[in-house]
Amino acid sequence: MSVLLDVRSLTKHFRNSGGLFSRVDRVIRAVDNVSFAISQGETLGLVGESGCGKTTTGRLILRLMDPTAGAMWFYQNGTKIDLLGLRGESLRRFRKHMQLVFQDPYSSLNPRMSVFDIIAEPLRAQGVGSRSQQREVVYEVSRACGLQPEYLQRYPHAFSGGQRQRVCIARALVLNPEFVVCDEPVSALDVSVQAQILNLLKDLQQQRQLTYLFISHDLAVVENISTRVAVMYAGRIVELGFTQELFHTPLHPYTEALLAAAPSGHLGKRPCRKPMAGEVADLGALPPGCAFSPRCPYAQDVCRTVAPELRDMSSGRHVACWRAEELHLAGISS
Ligand SMILES: Nc1ncnc2c1ncn2[C@@H]1O[C@H](COP(=O)(O)OP(=O)(O)O)[C@@H](O)[C@H]1O
Ligand SMILES: [Mg+2]
Repeated sequence: MSVLLDVRSLTKHFRNSGGLFSRVDRVIRAVDNVSFAISQGETLGLVGESGCGKTTTGRLILRLMDPTAGAMWFYQNGTKIDLLGLRGESLRRFRKHMQLVFQDPYSSLNPRMSVFDIIAEPLRAQGVGSRSQQREVVYEVSRACGLQPEYLQRYPHAFSGGQRQRVCIARALVLNPEFVVCDEPVSALDVSVQAQILNLLKDLQQQRQLTYLFISHDLAVVENISTRVAVMYAGRIVELGFTQELFHTPLHPYTEALLAAAPSGHLGKRPCRKPMAGEVADLGALPPGCAFSPRCPYAQDVCRTVAPELRDMSSGRHVACWRAEELHLAGISS
């Protein structure tokens, strides 16, 4: 499969004031040296606890904020496009190729616009097609997203959470993008509705040859939809691999701990549910060595002094752990 998006050493540091009485700015390492590639037509899941840098990663890729360092390439019909080289008008025009499905369907839709206008807005902003062509495209994409034509003149308040998420998806797809970042797209929905929206995203992917970066803190959701999974901790990718391998035989202690802490019932069988020990890392004051070492039951001296790089373990598995070869970690069993 050919690569659609290549992300190299992507880094974003925020500078936060240390507070009223502090002269020192804190540097928040929200995304730190993140590298991965996404193949055409696949779904890469990005999973990790809240605050680990997932949303920032998605926003950097979509060029909604500028990185501190790194490089990103997008491959289109054999052409390699330097995403960070796009500025002004060229960036504005390129935006139709990469779209975002928002986290919260309750706040991301303008309550004063009809659903038709919400879905049509990106077409109007990009000046694509005549008015009647735009109308046709809006009806076509709405139907594909399971929205009845008679709903389109209504306003978002008349819609359920699941229907609103369908509107968000239709809006993201109306420009016919190749790549979509889905940032916690089902996290605000009931479990039964979650399944419908995940199935819709999968159907649309097939029909439209879409490639997804699928962000979620929920392992069961990520397992359901992802081809491969990247596990993020404290702004870094700590493990990357094909979904079933990563879930059944995790190589990073953080992945093991995440799997053990997930609510039972949705994932496969696990020995017993075990909440994760310790506190989420403070991105403004990371410990030396591996950021997970203060919470890691397997940490040794080297882990507390030298940060492990993400390394290739063959057959597409990558892990950033000094002890990956010797540890035998527990995953889910089917
Ligand atoms: N605009 C910003 N300014 C300062 N800090 C930010 C900003 N956006 C995010 N952060 C910080 O970056 C870290 C990662 O946030 P985020 O990417 O939203 O994580 P996630 O999506 O995994 O929950 C958090 O510590 C957050 O507070
Ligand atoms: Mg987020």
